[in-house]
Amino acid sequence: MSMKEKLAAATHEVGEIVVVIVENAEDSEAEADINKEINPRSKHGKTVEWTSKDLISGLEEFVPIYETRPIKNMYGMGFDHNFGLWFIARWIKPDIMIESGVFKGHSTWVLRQAMPDMPIISLTLRYPEKYLKKGPAYVDENCSYFAGKDFVDFGSVNWEKVLKVRGISDFSRVLVFFDDHQNELKRLKQALKAGFRHLVFEDNYDTGTGDHYSLRQICDQFYIRGGGHSCFRDSDEGRIRLKRKKFWEKAVDINELCGPHEAWWGVRGEMLDNFNYNKTVISYGEHFQNSRFVESILDVYWELPPTAGPSLTHQTRYDPGRAPPPIVEDGRYRLFQQLGLDRLERSVFNGYTQMVYLLISKPES
Ligand SMILES: C[S@@+](CC[C@H](N)C(=O)[O-])C[C@H]1O[C@@H](n2cnc3c(N)ncnc32)[C@H](O)[C@@H]1O
Repeated sequence: MSMKEKLAAATHEVGEIVVVIVENAEDSEAEADINKEINPRSKHGKTVEWTSKDLISGLEEFVPIYETRPIKNMYGMGFDHNFGLWFIARWIKPDIMIESGVFKGHSTWVLRQAMPDMPIISLTLRYPEKYLKKGPAYVDENCSYFAGKDFVDFGSVNWEKVLKVRGISDFSRVLVFFDDHQNELKRLKQALKAGFRHLVFEDNYDTGTGDHYSLRQICDQFYIRGGGHSCFRDSDEGRIRLKRKKFWEKAVDINELCGPHEAWWGVRGEMLDNFNYNKTVISYGEHFQNSRFVESILDVYWELPPTAGPSLTHQTRYDPGRAPPPIVEDGRYRLFQQLGLDRLERSVFNGYTQMVYLLISKPES
């Protein structure tokens, strides 16, 4: 007997009181439809090696490290993504790490905690040391900065030459971290062309949100579980989104999700780039082709789960229904405490945007 049938039977027994519950059951069935993380098809259906047990022991180790951070990053990466980047870097153990988008150097510090002796190459418009005059910033001794007048965009670097000088010839031993708010399709193609395989994108914005075309947006397709949307306002999705918007600041309702001619893909039918400075209208056909291209080079796609459920973190920004299930589930307060997570200010859990790890390789002919 389905939930709906059980409740219908209950209605018969006790009368009107249950009607309210039946409505809720319909809501939760509909909610289940949009409560799905995006799970794109990889070439051979592979997933990451690490398990939730590994993530939990990682958290235990990382919380005391995080507490020593030099920059209290109010507007940048929150705790979840700090942990994700640290965990992935430590697991992969690259010979060198490259980051694009540095600001005051907080993510450089996170990479350094994961790999104390490995070189880092950081590309960013302004040298992080410039921020030191006004407050905390992190400048790393074993990092080559391509910044200020020496700035070169990731896509224009001669990586073979730059890495050869540093004794690196195996590009599969490099980890590239992007937090530069550029079109992720563009970055993906540049990384593939250079021969990099391990990539992390910090801001993997959900469809309809953010300032650049993200992997999650690209992979949001009707043929993928959890993907595709309807712009019909009175649909289940429309109703549920409206309800969710009341709870989560970053949730978008159907009016925000859909642009002209019912275009929902990307951000209202546009592919955004460079902090929203560049916008290109794309057709659904192009959006679809972008996803097929991504699938042709994808070995692994893994969205970092949020650290803990919202009843524990008190986060108010992202809709947990649009994210993978958290590492520490709601209700597991003892575990939250044991991991030291209760010692952190709750605001550090407000920056989650589905950070994603990708393993890529050239398409198979
Ligand atoms: C969101 S911030 C990075 C935050 C940093 N990862 C942290 O943990 O605090 C984005 C940075 O990207 C830089 N940026 C802008 N365009 C860029 C580009 N084309 N390549 C690399 N960095 C860029 C900006 O100057 C800014 O410092």
